[in-house]
Amino acid sequence: MQIQENISLKPYNTFGINATARYFAKFTSAEELDEVYNFDSSNKDLTTLVIGGGSNILLTQDYKGLVAKNELHGIEVVSQDEANVYVRAAAGENWHGFVEYCIQNDFAGVENLSLIPGNVGASPMQNIGAYGVEIKDVFHELEAYNIQEKKLEIFYAKDCEFGYRESVFKRKYKGKYVITRVTFKLTKQPYFNTSYGAIQQELDKMGVKELTIAAVSQAVINIRQSKLPDPKVIGNAGSFFKNPTIPKQQFEELQKQFPAIVGYPAGTDAIKVAAGWLIEQSGWKGYRKGDAGCHAKQALVLVNYGNANGIDIYNLSTAIMHNVESIFGVILEREVNVI
Ligand code: EPU
Repeated sequence: MQIQENISLKPYNTFGINATARYFAKFTSAEELDEVYNFDSSNKDLTTLVIGGGSNILLTQDYKGLVAKNELHGIEVVSQDEANVYVRAAAGENWHGFVEYCIQNDFAGVENLSLIPGNVGASPMQNIGAYGVEIKDVFHELEAYNIQEKKLEIFYAKDCEFGYRESVFKRKYKGKYVITRVTFKLTKQPYFNTSYGAIQQELDKMGVKELTIAAVSQAVINIRQSKLPDPKVIGNAGSFFKNPTIPKQQFEELQKQFPAIVGYPAGTDAIKVAAGWLIEQSGWKGYRKGDAGCHAKQALVLVNYGNANGIDIYNLSTAIMHNVESIFGVILEREVNVI
């Protein structure tokens, strides 16, 4: 494994932030992870940052340690029965590439998750979700490298403690494991989930008479392309904030003042509020200062029009958070990892 020095991370983060890594390497096997974590072991201050698709990070400074890019590849069917097929994908596989593989092979379950940027390895980390489906719904198990013990371990769903954009890897095991591969439990007979408003509308528009996983995937692609910016064109990391969950009583109070507020039940006494709505109503949608902005078609997405740096984006996010809190009394939480 080759270790390079002073490498620009611009091509490795979808925000397109031009920060520099003091050291940079690509690992293509779990064995090479030993090399990553043995690199310059005499330097106790040297930290390591593992990146996948770079689609959920905001780099606010140069990285003084070693940035290790996950290049673990391969997709294979590991077993199947009458109803299910178990497919294993290496963590460095592009997520949408994996979705396309499933659609081509008629393996159902991930079609609603089409076109989500990033790699397979990041999908359980934050339990990615879209249009009514989350990774936990199709998750079987994963393998991860224990950085301290330098060995591979298996995690089943219960070990991952999945929540909304959450898992154990973002909480108590943060920085302790590197996900190396994920096995998904997909179905041979599709179970269509088209209840998320816009999907059925899009399928009608497409003139789809008989549902297929390919048609659902295409509907999701069309919806995403209509409002989410393509990171290849405008730098972004998808939703910058989570949708906050607030007590039902607080939501009802807000509703009196703001009858159009958008929220969905989340458990018995809580409501998940659409952060995009709060941000739009606070006047930020389409806002731009220099090259940092709030996307004009989906206010939950912050964008880099070219030469914004991480601090510009971070400061914009802080201003939005303060403003939303002062108007609605709701505290937004960043979904993106700030580095
Ligand atoms: N809304 C606004 N203004 C906006 C954006 C949204 O009023 O600028 C309102 C919409 O009108 C709608 C509601 O908010 O009533 C929800 O909007 P949308 O369907 O676009 O979904 P979201 O809650 O804003 C979440 C995920 C997205 C995912 C979509 C679809 C989070 C943080 N984001 O966004 O995920 O694609 O649902 O399922 O949960 C991502 O994580 O990067 C991401 C893009």
